[in-house]
Amino acid sequence: MLWLTALILWTSVSHSCGSDLQFPSWFKFGAATAAFQVEGAWNVSDKGESNWDRLTHRYPEKIADGSNGNDACNSYYLWERDIEIAAELGLQFYRFSISWPRLLPTGFANNISEDGKNYYNNLIDGLLEMGIQPVISIHHYDMPQMFQDLGGWTNPKIADWYAEYARVVYSLYGDRVKYWITINEPTLTCDWYYGQAILTPEREYYVGPYLCNKNLLLGHAKAYHIYDQEFRNKYNGKVSIANHLMWLMPYSNSTEDQELTEATMQFLNGRYTQPVFSKEGGWPAVVEQAVAKVSKEQGYSESRLPPFTQEEIELIRGTYDYLALNHYTSRLVRKRRPFEDVVQSLFSYVADLDAVLEMDPSWPFGYSELMSIYPRGLREIMLWVKQQYGDVEILITENGYSTGGSSLEDDARISFVRDHLEQVILSIEEGVNVTGYIYWALMDNFEWTSGYNSKFGLYEVDFSVPERTRTPRKSAEYYAQVIKKRSL
Ligand code: NOJ
Repeated sequence: MLWLTALILWTSVSHSCGSDLQFPSWFKFGAATAAFQVEGAWNVSDKGESNWDRLTHRYPEKIADGSNGNDACNSYYLWERDIEIAAELGLQFYRFSISWPRLLPTGFANNISEDGKNYYNNLIDGLLEMGIQPVISIHHYDMPQMFQDLGGWTNPKIADWYAEYARVVYSLYGDRVKYWITINEPTLTCDWYYGQAILTPEREYYVGPYLCNKNLLLGHAKAYHIYDQEFRNKYNGKVSIANHLMWLMPYSNSTEDQELTEATMQFLNGRYTQPVFSKEGGWPAVVEQAVAKVSKEQGYSESRLPPFTQEEIELIRGTYDYLALNHYTSRLVRKRRPFEDVVQSLFSYVADLDAVLEMDPSWPFGYSELMSIYPRGLREIMLWVKQQYGDVEILITENGYSTGGSSLEDDARISFVRDHLEQVILSIEEGVNVTGYIYWALMDNFEWTSGYNSKFGLYEVDFSVPERTRTPRKSAEYYAQVIKKRSL
C-alpha cells in the first residue's frame, strides 16, 4: 500500500512540476498584434483616416495617457524586425490584422492602395520565408472614418461594404494565408464601442450595440460565404470570427445566481456565438426575452434587439471552419442589490439582465480589468464551447497578461502563460479539440483606451526612440523554450 501512496504522490508532484506536461506534435504556438496598435504611419502614402485616428485625435481625453496610434510601434517601417522577433521565439503562427483604410483608402473596393497592398505582401512573404504562418484578422476595430460617420456597424449597409473589402483581402493574399479571422471581438466592437459611447462620444446608445451585433454577424456571414464560394476550392483555408469569451460562475449556489449566470453566459458569449456555431442559429432565447422585456418597460415600441428573418438565420448559421477564441478573464455573477450603484462596464455590469459581474478577490489581479486571473476559466470556457456547439476545432487566438510599468523581469507573465498552457493540455486530455495557442501580444503596443500604459508584450518596446527598439522580456525566453521543448 505504501508504494502505491508513494507512486500517487510522485505522480501528482511531477505533474504539478510540469515534467510530463507535453503538447501533441500537431499543436501550434503563435503571438499576435493588430494593425492600429502597431503600424503607426497613420497618414503615410494614400492611407485613409480610420475611426481610431479620428477618435484619438479629437478626443484624447478618452485615452488614459492622451496618446494615439500615429507612430505606435512603427511596424509599418519595422516589419522586418517584427518577423525577426517572431522567428526568435520560434513561432508557428503570427496573427496580425489588415488596416481597412490602408488597403482601401476610401473604404470602397474599387480603389486599392498599391502601397497598402505591398506592405501586407511583404509581411506575409517575409513570414512564410521564416516558416511562420500568417493568421490574418480582416477587421480588428479600425474602419474607415467615412463609414463610422455613417454609423459604422449600426448602418445595415456596412455588412456589404465590409464583405467587399474581405473579398479584396482574400483575392490579394488568399494564395498564402490559411487561417482567416473575419472580425475580431464582436462583443468589444459592439457592446463596448456603441454601448459605452467610446466611438460615439457625443451620444449615449442603448440601441446601437444590438444593431451592431446583427449587422456585424451579417457582415461576417457574407465574408464567409464569399470565401466559401470563390476561394475555398483554390486555396483551402479556414475562416472564423474571433470571439472574446469570458468564463462566468455563480456568485453563490442560490438558484437565482445559477440561472442568472446561464443567462449572462448567453448574453455576453452566446449572443455572438449561437447565431454562427449552433445547429439552430438565431439569437439565444433567453437574450431575446430579456431585451424584449426591458425594452417594453422602458417604453420602446419594439425590442431593441433587432429580429433575424429566417433567411438571415440561415445565412449566418454554420459560417465557420473553426472557432477563434480570445480569452482573458472570468467573473462571478449575481443580481444587482436594491439601490446598489453599478459601474456601466462590459466587465462589471449587464444592464438588460441587471447582472453584476464580480471579480473573485482570491484570484490574482493584474493591471487592467481583463487581469483578474483564473487560468482554469480557459479550460471551462472551451468545455462550454464543446458542450454548446460540439467538437469544433478551437484556436486560441488571444490570451495575455498586462502590466502597468515596464520591466524585462516579468515573472508574473511567465506564471500566467504557464498556468494557462497547463489548462490547455488538461483540456486536450479531456477531449477538447484545441489546436493552437496565440499569445497577446508579440510586443507592447497601443492598448486602445489604456494607450501605452498597459503592456502586454513578450517584447518590450521603447516608445521614447524612433527606432522603437524591441527587447525580449524574460517571458519571451520562457515562451521560446516552451515552443522548442513542446512542454511546460
Ligand atoms: C483584445 C483585443 O483583440 C486586442 O486588440 C487587445 O489589445 C487585447 N485584447 C488586450 O486588451
